[in-house]
Amino acid sequence: MIYRALRRALFLVAPERIHTWVFAVLRAATALAVTRRPLGRWLAPRDPVLASTVFGLRFAGPVGLAAGFDKDGRGVRTWGALGFGYAEVGTVTAQAQPGNPKPRMFRLPEDRALFNRMGFNNHGAGELAIQLARHTPEVPIGVNIGKTKVTPAEHAATDYAESTRLLGPLASYLVVNVSSPNTPGLRGLQAVESLRPILAAVRAETTTPVLVKIAPDLSDQEVDEIADLAVELGLAGIVATNTTVSRDGLATPGVDEFGVGGISGPPVARRSAEMLRRLYRRVGDRLVLISVGGIEDADDAWDRITSGASLLQGYTGFVYGGGLWAKRIHDGLARRLHDGGFATLADAVGTAVRD
Ligand SMILES: Cc1cc2nc3c(=O)[nH]c(=O)nc-3n(C[C@H](O)[C@H](O)[C@H](O)COP(=O)(O)O)c2cc1C
Repeated sequence: MIYRALRRALFLVAPERIHTWVFAVLRAATALAVTRRPLGRWLAPRDPVLASTVFGLRFAGPVGLAAGFDKDGRGVRTWGALGFGYAEVGTVTAQAQPGNPKPRMFRLPEDRALFNRMGFNNHGAGELAIQLARHTPEVPIGVNIGKTKVTPAEHAATDYAESTRLLGPLASYLVVNVSSPNTPGLRGLQAVESLRPILAAVRAETTTPVLVKIAPDLSDQEVDEIADLAVELGLAGIVATNTTVSRDGLATPGVDEFGVGGISGPPVARRSAEMLRRLYRRVGDRLVLISVGGIEDADDAWDRITSGASLLQGYTGFVYGGGLWAKRIHDGLARRLHDGGFATLADAVGTAVRD
């Protein structure tokens, strides 16, 4: 309620500017232990039923911050205090780059969605490595890596391997991002013949768990092929999904005028959930599935858990939902787990698909 009024004021400011301001306020509020600790005690998941061990790491709760919000890992101590069970920082690329010209982020208020073509603006893998080495986070921190824009597609594997060499030892897990619509040609790397050498190079460079993040615009057959490849190469899991390039069914007028970019939030929810169920049926016993795309509340979160996700993420839901977003979902999930007689979160994973 209070956030709804605050959001109205925040939404008067250009989206990227307000993102910078809010992120600065969140970092300031959690910079010192005197504020960070009480915030964490209030917001962080504490019900043991929410805890799980996924690829050997302990997560106090399954709701994480999705990639793109904290591209350079400047808030690694912020996310635990804000109630997230973990955070995925990045996308970073091997070389620093400015991203696309502004404006490059827009709101679609009537869809509770966002539209962006940021283009991997980031300070580079080396800078992120320094950030991660400097701070000890309270929650697992995944690192999402992408291809530097100027690196030609045929040298993509070397580019991803370079980021892996720098960041693998510092990350809780690594995500190979081949699904952003905003780096020309990047999504073409999802084709298995292009993806295989990239994933193999990353795997060869690190012992840290490696996942691949895929687009909601893939066909079912492409999803199956990537899932099989991920199993074959011994990946830890799949993150599904990134933003969509589809403009179908939007309520907000004038989206075509924004130009190229990806849409997040509720418009991507149905395909994201559908792909999760498909992946779980195909490889759910062999890969960890992280579900992201249009998760707004505990009902959505419960649907994704029971459809096969071991972990969840959100970006747009957090922007529209405010600082209590992760806590509200964790509290709602805990209630559903207790009501359903589940002893642990892991017991609920995939139950709606298996039956
Ligand atoms: C402004 C913005 C920037 C994003 N940047 C990245 C990014 O750098 N890397 C990435 O893998 N995903 C990025 N994403 C995609 C999100 O991580 C997520 O996959 C997508 O938004 C769907 O989740 P949501 O509906 O909860 O927002 C970005 C999303 C938004 C809205």
